[in-house]
Amino acid sequence: MWKLTPMHDPRPIALRVNGRSVEMTVDARINLADFLRHELRLTGTHVGCEHGVCGACTVLVDGASARSCLMLAVQANGRRIETVESLANGSDLHPLQQALARHHGLQCGYCTPGVLMTLLELSRETAGRNVTEAEVRTALSGNLCRCTGYQGMVRAALEVLNNSA
Ligand code: FES
Ligand code: FES
Repeated sequence: MWKLTPMHDPRPIALRVNGRSVEMTVDARINLADFLRHELRLTGTHVGCEHGVCGACTVLVDGASARSCLMLAVQANGRRIETVESLANGSDLHPLQQALARHHGLQCGYCTPGVLMTLLELSRETAGRNVTEAEVRTALSGNLCRCTGYQGMVRAALEVLNNSA
């Protein structure tokens, strides 16, 4: 397994990731994205720009979306993290995942984990009411997609979020 070595400033952390308790010692300088990908092997969280612009690394921290490239793993101590791996139930894809596929809301898929976590947050925030296209576009404004475009993503989000209202 790939490791950041040497560990200059080891710190113990305890957190919940996708419903599972995790207790590990990490280097104080490792960011949450690298911790998830390299230590927990949750490679669904993607890393693009590594400076908070593209949104590919978006995860939920205590239910709120966060750039995991801008957050240290030690800052996740005691927090609840959700990654894209939490969405599907075995081979049963989450409705948002199914809708993205149905509406051609992805091509290369690099941005898709971040898009999904952003839309999951929006679906929870707006549960019980309909959302507007403007709300979906505003929510997705922090997720850069360089190959698909947003038409299919927006259609997918409106279908799922408004059918569950
Ligand atoms: S990799 Fe984190 S915002 Fe781009
Ligand atoms: S699907 Fe390729 S970057 Fe969005």
